[in-house]
Parts: sequence; C-alpha cells; structure tokens
Amino acid sequence: MIGLHVVILAAGKGTRMKSETPKVLHPLAGRPVIEHVLATVDHLETASITLVVGHGSDMVRAALANRPNLQCVVQSPQLGTGHALLQAEPVLKGLRGDVLLLYADVPLLEPGTLLRLLEAHRGAKAAMTVLTAELADPYGYGRIVRGADGRIERIIEERDASPEQRAIKEFNSGIYALSLRQLFNNLNDLATDNAQGEYYLTDLVAMYRQKKLRVESLCLESADELRGVNSRQDLADLSLIVRQRKNRLLLLGGVTMEDPATTYIDADVIVGADSVLGPGVRLEGRTAIGKRCRIHAGSRLTNVAVEDDVVVFDYSVIVDSRVGQGAQIGPMAHVRPQSVVGPSARVGNFVELKKTTLGKGSKASHLSYLGDATIGDGVNIGAGTITCNYDGEKKHTTVIEDQVFIGSDSQLIAPVTIGKGAYVGAGSSITSDVPAGALAIARAQQVVKPGWATKRKASRPATKSDH
Ligand code: UD1
Ligand code: CA
Repeated sequence: MIGLHVVILAAGKGTRMKSETPKVLHPLAGRPVIEHVLATVDHLETASITLVVGHGSDMVRAALANRPNLQCVVQSPQLGTGHALLQAEPVLKGLRGDVLLLYADVPLLEPGTLLRLLEAHRGAKAAMTVLTAELADPYGYGRIVRGADGRIERIIEERDASPEQRAIKEFNSGIYALSLRQLFNNLNDLATDNAQGEYYLTDLVAMYRQKKLRVESLCLESADELRGVNSRQDLADLSLIVRQRKNRLLLLGGVTMEDPATTYIDADVIVGADSVLGPGVRLEGRTAIGKRCRIHAGSRLTNVAVEDDVVVFDYSVIVDSRVGQGAQIGPMAHVRPQSVVGPSARVGNFVELKKTTLGKGSKASHLSYLGDATIGDGVNIGAGTITCNYDGEKKHTTVIEDQVFIGSDSQLIAPVTIGKGAYVGAGSSITSDVPAGALAIARAQQVVKPGWATKRKASRPATKSDH
C-alpha cells in the first residue's frame, strides 16, 4: 500500500510479567509475542516498519536480527505513548502517507482488521482514526468520549476520568491510523498535564478536534482481537485463543484431532490432510507433517520435517530432524537433532538417535543408542545395540553400510566402519573395521562344563535359598 508506515511500540517495561525477559519476547504459541504482530504486518504492503524499543532493547533487537527491514529507534526514558511515537520522527520526517500505530504486546489482531481501519481512515480523508470496541467493564482502558453529534471528541484515561466517563463502555484500543502530514508538529505540542505526568498520544484527539482536523473511529464488533499481554495470566489466556485458532484452521484443512483441547500446535506448523493427531500431541516450531500421518498420544515434535504416511507411536520426542515417507517411530523413541530417519525405516521403542542417519527400510526396533552414525539402507540393528561414540573427549562416527546385520547387544566402538552386507554376531564389542561381506564375532568364547550345576547342588545341604 502506498505510503503505509507501520510503527510498533515496544518500549514499555512489562512490570507485571515479573520477568527478566522483555514482555514482547515471551513465547505465545511458539513464537515471541511481537512476532505475531510482525506476522500480521507481513500481510500488508508497507513502506517502512519502525519499532520503538526501550526496556531490554538489546534483547529485543537481537531477537529480531533476522528482520533487516525493521528499523529500531530507542525511547529512553519512557515518557508515555505520545513520546514513544515521537521517537520515530527522525525516521519518518518528510515522508508522505499514513502511520499505522500498533503495540507489540497486542498479538491477536488480524490483517483484515487493519485493512478495515486504513480504509475507514483513507476513505474519510481523516487526520486520525481510532480503533475502538466495547466491553462491559473496560477497566484500565482509555474511554472514548463522544459529543452530542456522536463524533469522537476526546479520549480520557481511566485515572483521569470522572465517574460518568468511567461508565463509558467504548474503549480505546491504542491502535490508530494517523496521517503523516501534521502528525509530528502536533506530537511535539503534547503536554503532560495528566495523572501520570506523561505525554499521552490519546491527547491528539482533542487537539485535532480543536484544530478542526478530522478524527474518525472504527468500532469493532468484538474486543477479542484487541487483547493485550500484560501478565502471565494474559499470556495463558491468549495462548489458548491462538491455539484454538490454529487448531480450527487445521481441522478445516482436513486434519483429524482426537482431542483438540490437548493438542498444542505452534503457529508456523503445517499438517497435511488426512493426518491424525492423538491427544496430548505437541507440534512445535517449524514442524511440517505430511499427508496421512498418524502422530499418537503424547508425542512432541520440534522443528521436524515429516513426509507422508509416517506413524509416530505414543510418547516419542523428535527434535530438529527429518523423517522419510512411511517411516515408523516409537513408542517412546527419542530422535535428537540432525537425525534423518529414511523412508520406510523403523525406530522402535526405547531407541535413541542423535545426529544419525538411518537409511531406507533400515530398522532399529528395540532399546538402542545410535549416535553420530551413518547407517545405510536395509540395515538391521539388533536390540540393545550401542554406538560408543564418545571417548571422554571427542565424538567419533560409526559407519554402517547397506544391508548390514548387527546382532543384538553389540557395541560398536567408534570410529568404526561395518562394510556392506557384513554380519556382526550378537554380543560383540567391535573395535576395528569389519570388511564388506564378513562376519565379525567379538565376544568371549562360551565355556560349558557338563554336570557342574547338578554336582554342586548334590554336595551342599538344602538351604532356604535353594528353592
Ligand atoms: C494506552 C492508551 C489507552 C488505551 C490502552 C490500550 C495512552 C495514554 N493510553 O494505555 O487509552 O486504552 O493503551 O491498551 O496512550 N509504550 C512505550 N513507551 C512508553 C509508554 C508505552 O513504548 O513510554 C508502549 C508499551 O510498551 C505498550 C504500549 O505502548 O506496548 C501501551 O502502553 P501502556 O502503558 O500499556 O498504555 P496504557 O497506559 O495501558
Ligand atoms: Ca496496556
């Protein structure tokens, strides 16, 4: 959109969060609160985006370093919302168009709502348009005071309001469209004659009215989108709303959820049609699930790319990894970062993978630790196999080539390579490379003493423990 400049206020302290982390960086459904606002802004065509930071500005900047077209200005000290917007003057001076003023701690706003606000503002050629809504008890918010003609006259803050004004149900969201033309001249004229001794952006309304500049308002049907994050309680309440929105979208997209109320899916997650999610499933970060997958109860997947037709059985944890088509994982498997489970591969119960590739159709079905290993196609890893990848100082790699058979309860002491098609006998401790096609057995020879146990029993009187 031509000349649309977004300014986002994020300088406030967020005292009620009782946190060392700036309020706007607290995660809400897997993304920092402010990222929800930025994602909404991403839907608009903006000429510039300016963030006003203050408390914890270094942390906020660092967290947003991946957004190069975001300009940060620092507000220090924080002297109110009017003063906060004034900090954007050096960035926006001399530019034309409108400012869309947002709060970084109001994360539920939808792009369509902002477009409506801009349409109302530009349609009326207004100098300022205020986004409002009604609440039965708008305690704490600024109230919208209207004249006899029904037009907005001023905004009065809770602390400065008379009992009659406090009874007004329509409140100020703090979100505005503002024409740049006369904005900064007037912001510079704001006074601090109010209960908090701050520069109130809201005072612009009365100032504009006095100067016969046009002030409009857009009153939303519901106040839901305007809810802010001020406390951990708000964070929990808003998380629920974001989660429900996300689940609703996925259900509409053809995903079955056995219990949506306990299914926690982050905002950026993708799930393909005809996939089924069990109760208590968490899909986090940039996880993408293919079609016709089944993720059973209590599993957590964080930043995992899962192809079609995959089954993850109950209570498995998979992090920063990839899972190929038709693979099966779990129950109770742990797939740690940088692992690749190949197509049709099988990672069974109590199997842990770390930085390990398991090739196509390969199986590690029971009780194994496979770390820093590259495992080829069609490999069978017996129960209880362990890659001994750590010598106390360094990590070493294990290479297991295609079609290898590793007998149960073997230890592969890395660095070591098992050549293509080789066999390792059960219970082996493999310390050196096994050539392709060979059989390696590395365990003590079995000793059998015929009749030994029978004789021993006969030579000793029966005791209680002999039964
Ligand atoms: C403000 C409005 C109020 C409105 C309410 C909606 C004013 C004077 N009042 O009140 O009418 O109903 O928002 O939530 O504008 N901020 C800064 N620098 C500052 C002060 C605030 O960046 O110096 C930022 C905060 O980080 C926050 C936003 O501005 O994101 C709102 O600040 P807050 O103190 O919550 O405003 P309220 O007093 O609640
Ligand atoms: Ca507030």
